[in-house]
Amino acid sequence: MSILIDQIEAGSKHLSVMLPEVLATLAPKRGETIIDGTFGAGGYSRVILETGAKVIGFDRDITAINNAFTHENLTLLHDRFSNMADHVDKVDGIVLDLGVSSMQFDEGGRGFSFRYDAPLDMRMGLTEISAADIVNSFEEKELADLIYLYGEERASRPIAREIVKSRPINTTFELVAAITKVLYIKRDEIHPATRTFQALRIAVNEELAEIEQALKAAEAILRPGGRLVVVSFHSLEDRIMKDFTSKRSGKNEGSRYAPAVTPLPATFKSITRKALTASPDELKLNPRARSAKLRAAIRVEV
Ligand SMILES: C[S@@+](CC[C@H](N)C(=O)[O-])C[C@H]1O[C@@H](n2cnc3c(N)ncnc32)[C@H](O)[C@@H]1O
Repeated sequence: MSILIDQIEAGSKHLSVMLPEVLATLAPKRGETIIDGTFGAGGYSRVILETGAKVIGFDRDITAINNAFTHENLTLLHDRFSNMADHVDKVDGIVLDLGVSSMQFDEGGRGFSFRYDAPLDMRMGLTEISAADIVNSFEEKELADLIYLYGEERASRPIAREIVKSRPINTTFELVAAITKVLYIKRDEIHPATRTFQALRIAVNEELAEIEQALKAAEAILRPGGRLVVVSFHSLEDRIMKDFTSKRSGKNEGSRYAPAVTPLPATFKSITRKALTASPDELKLNPRARSAKLRAAIRVEV
């Protein structure tokens, strides 16, 4: 917890989430090579470097790379973490802290937050299509499906209808205006735009495909005994890691309606039976940690 307090005292714009649990499960050691797939403000990397391990940091956002600190054992790469196997051969640990950083969220001009009026962009980096492109070009049904699937928004159909009626929508506040014609702002409830904004951000940045590809890459480049640690912030992300570790640890529950399948040989052993969550002490200091879930697994020899 002292590291979090240090970050608060230093006025850090992004407070690292579940750092003690990340360190305990990632277990970096002197001389090892660890990938920090989501460098952000470098909070995880800094602590990993202190153990004497080398860090290869990835971020798709060029601002994160340009603002990074330097360290003799830190290599930074401006790329998506799904491409990690293109850059490295074998590593001893990989950590992913998914989603946007507080810097991205609070940088009003990027369109991630419905609290600031800004162009409806939401690109973290290294993708072509913006959120405005999606809301202005998708058909109503496609939009409704996207908002339902990635935002788990039950009012996706009327929201999509209202979006189509309100086109063109070029700013965050124009989108909020369309959503709040369907869902009213209620005190003590999450803002009605939350789920639609989440859905668009996931779509723009292809976030779920990124995780799926990164887990396969991790399987290819982790040495036996290497650790994979994923911190996620919503159930869609968490489910991908949960299913992956369950399938790759030789469990194949299959379906009673389908022919039995032979489980694949285990390539991982899960080290978190249930997802870990942030401690009450951390939650007092950083409310953003509320929805965080950490799952970790060790690469085993086939
Ligand atoms: C939650 S922040 C990480 C914060 C970091 N752990 C820290 O303690 O400072 C997530 C970062 O990952 C980056 N990111 C998200 N998805 C990515 C991807 N698929 N590939 C590379 N970077 C990604 C974002 O641009 C953002 O800077």
